[in-house]
Amino acid sequence: MEMEWKLLIAVFIFISRSVESSLPCSFIETVNITGGYVDIDRNYIYSSDVYPLGAYQEFDYLEDFARNRVSVDPHIRGCICKLKPCIRLCCQGKENNFDSNCFISDTITVVNEVNEDETIDLNDTHYGILIGRPCKVMYELNVADYDDDRWNFLKNGSIYKPEDKQVHNIDDYCFGVTNKTVAILYLCFENSDDSIDNRYVVYPIGMLISIPFLIITFLIYACVPELQNIHGRSLMCYTFSLTILYAALITAQMDIIDLYLHQKICKTVGYLIYLAAFLSFFWMNVMCFDIWKIARKAVRRSQQEELKTFIIYSIYSVTCPLLMTITVFLIDVTKPFDQHYLPMIGEIKCWIQSQFKAEAIYVYIPISIIILLNVALFGDTARNIWNFQNSSVKGGKGQMRNRILRRRFFIYLRLFILMGFMWSMESISWLVGSKSIFFYIVDFFNCIQGLLIFLICVCDVRTRQLLVKRGGSLMTSVKTEQ
Ligand SMILES: *[C@@H]1O[C@H](CO)[C@@H](O)[C@H](O)[C@H]1NC(C)=O
Ligand SMILES: *[C@@H]1O[C@H](CO)[C@@H](O)[C@H](O)[C@H]1NC(C)=O
Ligand SMILES: *[C@@H]1O[C@H](CO)[C@@H](O)[C@H](O)[C@H]1NC(C)=O
Ligand SMILES: *[C@@H]1O[C@H](CO)[C@@H](O)[C@H](O)[C@H]1NC(C)=O
Repeated sequence: MEMEWKLLIAVFIFISRSVESSLPCSFIETVNITGGYVDIDRNYIYSSDVYPLGAYQEFDYLEDFARNRVSVDPHIRGCICKLKPCIRLCCQGKENNFDSNCFISDTITVVNEVNEDETIDLNDTHYGILIGRPCKVMYELNVADYDDDRWNFLKNGSIYKPEDKQVHNIDDYCFGVTNKTVAILYLCFENSDDSIDNRYVVYPIGMLISIPFLIITFLIYACVPELQNIHGRSLMCYTFSLTILYAALITAQMDIIDLYLHQKICKTVGYLIYLAAFLSFFWMNVMCFDIWKIARKAVRRSQQEELKTFIIYSIYSVTCPLLMTITVFLIDVTKPFDQHYLPMIGEIKCWIQSQFKAEAIYVYIPISIIILLNVALFGDTARNIWNFQNSSVKGGKGQMRNRILRRRFFIYLRLFILMGFMWSMESISWLVGSKSIFFYIVDFFNCIQGLLIFLICVCDVRTRQLLVKRGGSLMTSVKTEQ
């Protein structure tokens, strides 16, 4: 008996769930219409609006844009935007973004289709009024300072931006009502919904493959004393930075699925990505600089000098990224510019916002500078090695040195191409915007970089010889201990 009751309740819950989702609009497009009545055709009449059956329903909760619910007394809500054009106002209780613009008014002034100010009476029943923001993070259009930000209010309740010919609907904008002449328009940041695709499944898998290879590369360089020169140590720092970068990137991808949770984690991961990415770029830069210096004039460094040089390099390549990360953090905290130039790490995604110029300013420009610098260093190094090759007497120490240099040069060159490839493709896809199958393939190669780095650094001839030698001496020491 009890069993049957439970079944019945389950069926009832199932049915009510499916009824719940049967409204022809989302919760945030409904309004409270309690206090109306149902006519004989089961239409719901509220004020002068007639909601057909199916366009209204009883709710015992309120829901926000992120589908967070709070329980309230049962009340009737209807899809008002199915009956007439809707306008969305931002303010609903205390929503910190809009506090200063939460002036409640009976009218709202907008710029209409013919660029004239038009005052809309909110009491007038011509428009349905929705209240509450449609998404988590919004930016304010600043018409006074940016021509690109001009907008027009269309008669059907949508917003048109002439500059980019885009139409924004009520799921994408809201008005901050002020007592200023024209209402302030807020738009949602481009949604990351479209980014939940194959990319975010392929990425973490490729990166997970990479991490063990990066760690192995690191350990091999750490364990073989012959590899512990500036070159080897720099490579260790480089692979270490990449390991952190990959781990952080994987975490960031995980977070995409759960966009509205973990804000703190998301921010931390965002800064970690920033720091680790620039650490690896600066270490790459150090390696390029070092080989350039050696190739330019035949410096012979003692053990002590090697250590001193390495410490100077470390200070450079750790301090710079740290300072950059701190700067970005401070900009995010103090917000000295308007939203167009703020990094907003961890607010829209676990990375710098890509709506405006921020990603270019904080990422692509600094990276381009480092890449250009490296290209210049590489060019000059290649020239020096080539000149030496042609001029010097065959054989002897110079020849030997040049061979080592050349070997190292090619390791760096391959690493550099690998890394430069990753970021230039990233920049191109940022410029082009859309993701084609070509970019998926490129992306996948980027993700298995760890494996490629391992092949470049560890499987090269000399390192292999050293490894074999080291393996051999280990074996002997084990044997003598026995
Ligand atoms: C809905 O409207 C009715 C009547 O105006 C009001 O009593 C009720 O509190 C409202 N419910 C919610 C959740 O706003
Ligand atoms: C709008 O309605 C509110 C309350 O319903 C009323 O106080 C106000 O005077 C009305 N405004 C206009 C312009 O009709
Ligand atoms: C309003 O009109 C524009 C074009 O005239 C259209 O793109 C937009 O989807 C319309 N909005 C609604 C809510 O129908
Ligand atoms: C507009 O609002 C501000 C603060 O909200 C207030 O100080 C100012 O007096 C208001 N101006 C008008 C014309 O109502």
